Amino acid sequence: MIRQKQSKQLKIYDMATSLNTKRIIIGILSLVFLVVLLIALWKEVQHAMPGYKPAPIVDAGTKHCISCHAEKGAGKVIVEQWKTSKHAEVGVGCLECHAANKTDVDAYLHEGALIATVVTPYDCRKCHEKETMEFVNSHHADAGMIMGSLDNVLAEVVEGDVNFNSGANPAAASGCWQCHGSRVQLLTDDQGKELPPGFLTWEMRRANMQNVCYQCHTKNYVAGFYTQYDNEVFLYNEKIGKPALKLMKLLLENQMITPAEFDEQIEWTYYYLWHHEGRRARMGASMMGPDYTQWHGNYEVADRFYMEFIPDLVEIIREARANGRTQGAQTVESELNTLLNSDMHKWFLGKMDPEELKKRKEAAAKFRDRYSESK
Ligand code: HEC
Ligand code: HEC
Ligand code: HEC
Ligand code: HEC
Ligand code: HEC
Repeated sequence: MIRQKQSKQLKIYDMATSLNTKRIIIGILSLVFLVVLLIALWKEVQHAMPGYKPAPIVDAGTKHCISCHAEKGAGKVIVEQWKTSKHAEVGVGCLECHAANKTDVDAYLHEGALIATVVTPYDCRKCHEKETMEFVNSHHADAGMIMGSLDNVLAEVVEGDVNFNSGANPAAASGCWQCHGSRVQLLTDDQGKELPPGFLTWEMRRANMQNVCYQCHTKNYVAGFYTQYDNEVFLYNEKIGKPALKLMKLLLENQMITPAEFDEQIEWTYYYLWHHEGRRARMGASMMGPDYTQWHGNYEVADRFYMEFIPDLVEIIREARANGRTQGAQTVESELNTLLNSDMHKWFLGKMDPEELKKRKEAAAKFRDRYSESK
């Protein structure tokens, strides 16, 4: 009996505990459900919050690229920008854009992957057919076809010189192509030029500046930019700056101008030449402002030099001769003639090389054909 009673009590006890367990389970389940609901709600709120970005999708290929590019200077910022892009969100990684075919002229093996540095609209076309074709068929895509136009005579003859710097004419490169675009030329030779050390030399300052550039660009890209920029400065110096300074010194030495500054027209002209237009062209090139390099720079330098500085000189020579100062007039005139007959200026005397004249006429005809073809 006693045993029976005991087991009955146990059963009642069992029932009670199982009822409690059920309650606990239901309670836990409700809590879990509530937490899940809150998390889902929080996610929704997060998604709706301004600046929200889901985690980037990093596949094996991208992981390999990032293993270096997120660490070392070049491309560190590129990786950061990629991580917060729509492309990272949808799994378009480095190789989706940079992968190249064996037959591509710009393909090279880089850390186990065949890639190209320059990603063109045709790489985007794989996924953005509509947008790419809209662009390719637009007038914007033809902007680089201007070579051979009349404006190019300005850049290649009047402001610059095609033979300057082995044909890499800075007036066209920094002044036209940076807006209009140009053909991409592929070079194969690597140059590992090191900058000399030294405390606060200009080289040191430049290296510091370049370290900023390397956060987003590679060494070759930055070196290419600096070569292009330096060439603009060389062009100004060699074609305009040095000859103009030499002529100004000759005027002073021969007492054809007074020692007082700014009391004669040519002193104002000369000042505008180097201080205003010349500086704008050089600063424009350093700051990647092609409008300042070209239209407010090289173009106005040429205008000021040929249309004011030279006429001012001719007038001073004429006056000196009229006043019996033959010696001075002779010296300055002979220097001016030497300058104007030199390669970079002889076009002004109508003495352009007939071979070049012929080539320019052909280029202009080709330009008209190319331009009418491309809409
Ligand atoms: C082992 C390290 C390493 C890995 C892995 C790596 N890179 Fe690089 N990458 C570099 C270095 C170093 C440079 C040169 C940087 C410079 O010139 O300043 C470079 C340069 C580049 C350049 C520019 C080359 C040029 O012509 O200027 C591109 C584009 C590039 N990497 C893309 C990639 C892609 C895409 C991947 C993944 C497939 C990748 N890299 C994987 C280290 C690496
Ligand atoms: C949506 C396409 C796209 C994706 C994705 C992409 N890139 Fe690029 N990348 C470009 C373009 C466009 C350029 C500029 C090429 C030029 O100079 O014309 C470039 C340039 C570069 C350069 C050279 C920068 C310079 O100025 O020297 C490096 C290095 C580079 N990318 C690395 C990467 C890495 C690493 C990834 C992945 C984290 C990546 N890219 C993802 C399109 C892409
Ligand atoms: C492998 C496929 C792929 C390639 C290659 C690719 N994209 Fe995309 N891109 C996408 C996808 C997918 C999206 C997201 C869906 C969408 O907005 O169309 C996207 C989105 C974009 C957006 C919208 C970004 C935003 O914030 O909404 C732009 C702009 C864009 N791509 C430009 C480019 C350019 C320029 C290139 C070439 C340099 C390129 N894409 C190459 C697949 C690609
Ligand atoms: C600041 C940017 C910029 C610079 C620098 C620049 N251009 Fe232009 N150029 C443009 C734009 C934008 C147009 C289109 C203007 C329009 O259609 O109204 C244009 C139009 C032209 C056209 C006419 C094309 C057509 O479709 O009718 C020629 C030719 C031209 N430029 C040549 C040059 C040359 C040569 C240089 C250098 C000496 C140069 N440009 C410098 C931006 C520039
Ligand atoms: C924070 C990132 C960042 C830094 C730092 C940076 N750049 Fe750039 N740069 C870009 C981007 C993005 C573009 C546009 C993409 C392209 O054209 O490939 C660009 C474009 C350029 C261009 C092409 C301009 C044109 O008109 O076609 C040159 C040249 C350039 N940079 C040089 C430099 C130099 C030199 C420095 C250092 C003094 C520098 N960059 C610093 C991100 C940067």
